[in-house]
Amino acid sequence: MQFPVKKGAPPGNWKTECAILPLFDDGPLQGATQAFDTAGGGRIAQFVEEGHASGEPGRTAFLHGLDGTKAANALLVGCGKRDRFNAKKLRSALATAAGALAPTGIRTAMSYLAHDDAAGLDDYYAARVTVETFRASFYKFDELKSKHEPKPKMATVGLQAADATAEERTRRGVADGLAIAAGVELARDLGNLPANYCTPAHLAKAARGIANGHDNFEIEVIDERGMKKLAMGALLSVTHGAEEPAQLIVLNYRGAPNGASPVALCGKGITFDTGGISIKPGAKMDEMKFDMCGAASVLGAMKALGELEAPVNVVAIIPACENMPGSRATRPGDIVRSMSGQTIEILNTDAEGRLILADALTYAKRFEPRYVIDIATLTGACVMALGKVYTGLFTNDEELAARLLDAGRRSLDPAWRLPADDEYGESMKSNFADFANLGARYAGASSAAHFLSRFADRKGWAHLDIAGTAWLEGDRKGATGRPVPLLVDFLLNL
Ligand code: BES
Ligand code: MN
Ligand code: ZN
Repeated sequence: MQFPVKKGAPPGNWKTECAILPLFDDGPLQGATQAFDTAGGGRIAQFVEEGHASGEPGRTAFLHGLDGTKAANALLVGCGKRDRFNAKKLRSALATAAGALAPTGIRTAMSYLAHDDAAGLDDYYAARVTVETFRASFYKFDELKSKHEPKPKMATVGLQAADATAEERTRRGVADGLAIAAGVELARDLGNLPANYCTPAHLAKAARGIANGHDNFEIEVIDERGMKKLAMGALLSVTHGAEEPAQLIVLNYRGAPNGASPVALCGKGITFDTGGISIKPGAKMDEMKFDMCGAASVLGAMKALGELEAPVNVVAIIPACENMPGSRATRPGDIVRSMSGQTIEILNTDAEGRLILADALTYAKRFEPRYVIDIATLTGACVMALGKVYTGLFTNDEELAARLLDAGRRSLDPAWRLPADDEYGESMKSNFADFANLGARYAGASSAAHFLSRFADRKGWAHLDIAGTAWLEGDRKGATGRPVPLLVDFLLNL
């Protein structure tokens, strides 16, 4: 899909099959909608008057043959109250428009949804959200179906910019939006791919694919022998029950001068989480194929950085393995020595994400990173706390917290801060090892985060618990690609 930017005032001279126009609940027609109405001889106002269209959110109506303009049709999209319109509502309106256009066979459209003055939307972000939303709306994962549905016809969505400044911002928004969309799609593809395809080796292959695309990347994949040499006893204990070999993927992106210290991104890459010997109940266990979505989001962000040739240094560290039961699997009560030297009593083999991340966080130290951020589908408790709306953010660094929260807000991929203070570690005391991998029943997301902080062992660390936000359930079941937009926005604004 292409997103050309056109400079000028609506209705403009741009030939299109469909002008996508906002319609509000209150007040007279304004902005682009009014300009089209005037050029079209008042037909839009009449159409609304007759009750064929309204500003009700989610409602759409096509108006055919908009004579007097270069648009063959108009798609009127309900946007609710004018003074409540914002970036989030814009995204809903865009998704509604994409849904209405998909079955029509229309190939070219121009979106004017962001161009009602009332919204006061930032040109850059409005363009970015337009690209991201259209691409997400047309995303499909059907590579494993024997019959593919016909591809939607939509090929071009133009964006209008009022003047040269707006045009420049809009173009930047489109470019960043395209890169983020590509990253989100990679993360969604990897997440949706089931565990019999998406193995640790497959994740390594995907990382190699990113590295081969651009000179700025360097990749190293460490196998189990290498992990043993590095004394990664925590990571190795998780993969012990699995036939499928574990992989530690280290993907380095250098977009800034060599001296600049990198940001380290550690992504949980459990390609399937059975729980191990502490085996999970059967209901919805299929969703544990998504337990590598942290890894997938890190790869998605790296892909976007590569496409944008972003001026930052980032190192991705991805521990990837399966968590399986079996005669060689780690047992509850087993004690393992992590790469950091700290010993861990494994009281529950289903608390495996923190174990593989523990060694990844220790490994990250060798890059002397400016920030270390881990991304993980870590706890069911985080889903209980925040649902599927906010990603859980845990950090000991106020400045980093502000940066990540802002990035989430701006990119409509929001995070909410939760605590990880030392008190949350008190219930993880062990009589036999330095501490256990399991805390008390309460505040499970915070005790897991606290566990990680013992391995990050520094300021400038943050943990994103995406257990709720990485995928959707029910008839929209599938990976979301979150938090790729948050991560890329954060990295672009460093
Ligand atoms: N991958 C799961 C967390 C998870 C569960 C994410 C459900 C999304 C939906 C993680 O490895 C896990 O099993 N966590 C346990 C930890 C517990 C044993 C302390 C959990 O949350 O139940
Ligand atoms: Mn688990
Ligand atoms: Zn898990």
